[in-house]
Amino acid sequence: MDILDGKALALERRAALAVWVQERLSVAGRPPGLSVLVAGDDAASATYVRSKERAAAKAGIQGEVQNLPAGISQNELLARIHALNADEAIDGILVQLPLPKELDENEVLDAIDPEKDVDGFHPSNSGALWQQRGRVAPCTPLGIMHLLAAHNIEVCGKHAVVVGRSNIVGRPMAELLLQKNATVTIAHSRTTDLPNLLSSADLVVSAVGRAGFIQPEWLKPGVVCIDVGINRVDGRLVGDFQWQGLENVASAATPVPGGVGPMTIATLMHNTIASWARHCGLDSSPT
Ligand SMILES: NC(=O)c1ccc[n+]([C@@H]2O[C@H](COP(=O)([O-])OP(=O)(O)OC[C@H]3O[C@@H](n4cnc5c(N)ncnc54)[C@H](OP(=O)(O)O)[C@@H]3O)[C@@H](O)[C@H]2O)c1
Repeated sequence: MDILDGKALALERRAALAVWVQERLSVAGRPPGLSVLVAGDDAASATYVRSKERAAAKAGIQGEVQNLPAGISQNELLARIHALNADEAIDGILVQLPLPKELDENEVLDAIDPEKDVDGFHPSNSGALWQQRGRVAPCTPLGIMHLLAAHNIEVCGKHAVVVGRSNIVGRPMAELLLQKNATVTIAHSRTTDLPNLLSSADLVVSAVGRAGFIQPEWLKPGVVCIDVGINRVDGRLVGDFQWQGLENVASAATPVPGGVGPMTIATLMHNTIASWARHCGLDSSPT
C-alpha cells in the first residue's frame, strides 16, 4: 500500500508558491495579504490557525490573525469583515469555523467579498463551482485533487464514493471528482448499507469524523483511501479509516496525521496567492 504523504507534498508546494510570489513581488507592488478571523477559544481552531499563520509567512504572504472574543456580536463580526472587504492590502479573508453557536454562520460567510473568499464557501463561489466555472474551490477537496494528481492516481471512469456531505468537504469533493470524470456517489448518515456501497468503490473519500469508522473488510481490493477525518483518541489524532488491516486491501491511503491536513493548508496558500494575482492584475496564476 502506498502512503500518500501529504506533508511532504505540501512542503514542496508551499516552497514553489514562495518562489512564485517572490518572482512577481516587484510587479505586483505589494505582498499577498491574508486575514484570519477567529472568534472564541476553541483549542483545535487555535492549533489550525497557528499552522496557517506559519505557512503564510513561509509562502511570502502577509498574514494577520484577529483573535476576537467569544462574546463578539454578529454586527461587530460583520463590521470586521466589511472593513477587510474594503482593505486593498487584503486578498484573502478566512473565518475560522466553527463559530460560537450564538453567531449566524451563513450570514457571516455571505458577508465576505467573493473575490476574497479563499475558502470558496461563499454561495456565489460554491454555485459557480457546481456550474464548472468556479475560480476558487474549497481548500480540503482541492488539496486532495492535487494529492491524487501528484501521485498519478487517475479518477476518470472510476467509481468514487464520498462519505459525508458537508458544504466544506463532501459536496465540493464530489463536484471536483465529477469534473475529472469519476462516477461519484455521495454517502451520508441515512445511507443504507454503506459496506455494500463501498464494496464497488475504486476511491473512497471519508469525511465523517468518526475514528476507525470505515472497515477494511468493506472495501474493494486495490481501493484508494483518502481520509479527511480528524479524530482525537487517547490524545492521538486518527482518521476515519481503520488503519489496521488496510494495507491488505488498499493500493494507496493517506495517513492521519500527515495526509489531507497539510494539503488543506498548502491549498489555502495557493488560493490566497491566486486571489492576489487577480487583484494585482498579474497575467498568470499559480498552478
Ligand atoms: N484534514 C482536513 O483538512 C479537514 C478539513 C475539514 C474537516 N476535517 C475533518 O473531517 C471530518 C468531517 O468534517 P465535516 O466538516 O465535513 O463534518 P460534518 O459537517 O460533521 O459532516 C460529517 C458528515 O458525515 C456524515 N455521517 C455521519 N455519520 C455517518 C454514518 N454513520 N455513515 C455515513 N455518513 C455519516 C454526516 O451525514 P449527515 O449529513 O446525514 O449528517 C455528514 O454529512 C471531521 O473529522 C473534521 O474534523 C478535516
